[in-house]
Amino acid sequence: MERPIGIFDSGVGGTSIWKEIVQLLPMEDTLYLADSKNAPYGTKSKEEILQLSIKNTEILLEKGAKIIVVACNTATTNAIDHLRKNYQVPFIGIEPAIKPAALRTTTKKVGVLATKGTLSSSLFHNTSKMHAAGIQVFEQEGKGLVPLVEAGKARSEEAQFLLEKYVSPMLTEGIDCLVLGCTHYPYLLPILRKIVPKNVQIIDSGFAVAKQTKAILKSQGLLKSGTKGVEHVFFTNGNTYTLRFFVSGGAQKISYVNF
Ligand code: DGL
Repeated sequence: MERPIGIFDSGVGGTSIWKEIVQLLPMEDTLYLADSKNAPYGTKSKEEILQLSIKNTEILLEKGAKIIVVACNTATTNAIDHLRKNYQVPFIGIEPAIKPAALRTTTKKVGVLATKGTLSSSLFHNTSKMHAAGIQVFEQEGKGLVPLVEAGKARSEEAQFLLEKYVSPMLTEGIDCLVLGCTHYPYLLPILRKIVPKNVQIIDSGFAVAKQTKAILKSQGLLKSGTKGVEHVFFTNGNTYTLRFFVSGGAQKISYVNF
């Protein structure tokens, strides 16, 4: 089908998911919405996150999205049930990778770094309860990390300071898996790898989301069929320069839109 895959996030973080999707589905067109003006979502109320997710969904649908990837853990855990009930297209969400971490840990201790909005959601709690029975889960809010990534400061001293503050206590507790429960956090990996010892696995859900997107497109007959060239379109209500930095290297169209 000649319509794009719609993707949204509170800002630039979801580009970490966009990259996985483009790699796995190189023939598909994409349409990415970065709601940077309203970032961070993680400190907002459930109702606010829901309203922003509805707004983003309606823009993507209006622009012809055939499927919507909610490339934001905070929006997924607070709004995906509502979106699935109220719109016709399939939705793919992203949640902290508790299940893979629970399967891999040998110390039976797992750390989760995510936003307040994700950690306080009932979806996150239900997933933890279901998949991490017998595992100690250390939850840590990554307060201040999303704004740093949004400001292009993912490799700054400030980011290093915050990450040490958040991750060190979990390491002292003996975790051997650290789950990155926010799509902005993979951009912090260069610093995280210096802080986290090699025996601790850092797990995110990016590839799993791309695989699920492919599986759903295939099963619903929505894969692109024509041979028309591939197009990647980005809309941001924030800084186009920052967004370009995160997705540079291809033929992308990046525009500022006040949504
Ligand atoms: N990328 C979003 C997530 O995965 C960040 C949320 C926020 O804006 O605080 O949770």
